[in-house]
Amino acid sequence: MKTIIEPFRIKSVEPIRMTTREERERLLKEAGYNLFKLHSDDVLIDLLTDSGTSAMSAAQWGAVMTGDESYAGAPSFYRFEAAVRDLMDFKHIIPAHQGRAAEHLLFSLIAKPGLVIPSNTHFDTTRGNIEAAGAEALDLPIAEGKIPSLDHPFKGNMDLAELERLMAERGEDVPCVMMTITNNAGGGQPVSLENIRGAAEIAHAHGKPFFIDGCRFAENAWFIKLRENGQQDRSIKEIVRDTFRVSDGMTMSAKKDAFANIGGWLALNDDSLAEQARTRLIQTEGFPTYGGLAGRDLDAIAQGLTEIVDEDYLRYRVRTNAYIAERLDEMGVPVMKPAGGHAVFVDAREWLSHIPPLEYPGHALACALYEEGGIRGCEIGTVMFGRKPDGSEEPARMDLVRLAMPRRVYTQSHADYIVEVFEELAARKDDIRGLKIVKEPPMMRHFTAEFEPL
Ligand code: F0G
Repeated sequence: MKTIIEPFRIKSVEPIRMTTREERERLLKEAGYNLFKLHSDDVLIDLLTDSGTSAMSAAQWGAVMTGDESYAGAPSFYRFEAAVRDLMDFKHIIPAHQGRAAEHLLFSLIAKPGLVIPSNTHFDTTRGNIEAAGAEALDLPIAEGKIPSLDHPFKGNMDLAELERLMAERGEDVPCVMMTITNNAGGGQPVSLENIRGAAEIAHAHGKPFFIDGCRFAENAWFIKLRENGQQDRSIKEIVRDTFRVSDGMTMSAKKDAFANIGGWLALNDDSLAEQARTRLIQTEGFPTYGGLAGRDLDAIAQGLTEIVDEDYLRYRVRTNAYIAERLDEMGVPVMKPAGGHAVFVDAREWLSHIPPLEYPGHALACALYEEGGIRGCEIGTVMFGRKPDGSEEPARMDLVRLAMPRRVYTQSHADYIVEVFEELAARKDDIRGLKIVKEPPMMRHFTAEFEPL
């Protein structure tokens, strides 16, 4: 069979409220041309993020009902711990309310001024937590990872020669080496098992721990199975276990590859670090057997982890993005290649080359997608990264629009609709105008800034 169908039936639905173009133009204007300020029921297809937006399964909703809300020692925690350990065999598994809380726990303990933490590419919140502790967050992606149009099987890989050089020159300033799988900020691109092992080896040779930000570990494992030599006959679970076997701990957002709407964890092998993390957890998140979550959330995660490693699901998941990216590519829309695991990234700076970077081509495209078709994506470019700490403004390295796919939420006809909206835009793309910022906060401006079209 040629068609890869959604490997599920839909038992419970959420209606989409239809809107007209005129309505959307008004709503976007009222929102100060900031898509974060829209009410989500004014959005037809919401591709703002794949985080916390998954459709839970009937089995997960069933598990929610078995959640035990005891303050300490709830069976829900032990089910959660066993489900994590089945995939990632760490000694200490510490729940947290989401990924960034786990990052905060870790980096508030190991990051300090004068230290540097390398990664293939840190996600924003990881960077934020490292910098908040006074340390430097250093990205060392491979050169291929920086060129959107270039095809490469493991574009999320870390540049191991650069890592080796950093460790040789400044090893004593490096408290740990991180790896983000998949590489979200680098386009949802996978990291090979070989690269993960190589980075771990370098860290360990210098006596440093190696940690994985594992948010999209199952998508990464699927790419390894498809693309890495010798992995084709192995199960996703085996690949996942191999991935984490070489690491000393992980941070996780269960809002991604655990099909949960909230949750996360920090896992560690080091007893003393785990004890310090648990003490801090009690101070900031909650007792170590719930970590800021309800027992029912822990059960939803435990069940979700058994479902995420299903190959039929992963095949459909990754194919949806590839399908959209291929149609856009055929149409001449420049997309990040190959398609990532959780999102399609469009190179707006190239497609809307008549809009200079400081007039925000990525943001202009995101606004046009909403006005044209009610699609909400997210600019990853100059609006997000252009304002420097000294107050100056510079173009970001790229101006991309990320269309992130919620898990198990949209169907093939939604994918076709997204392609059609791009077809409409392609016909009049030279009329899409840039924007100027009329109001912005001192930092993280993309969430709250207000704009006017030029
Ligand atoms: N690490 C990565 C790679 C992420 O993509 C995210 C979240 C986090 C950590 C933080 O997890 O949201 O549970 O606190 N990414 C979302 C996104 C927000 O839209 O890409 P969190």
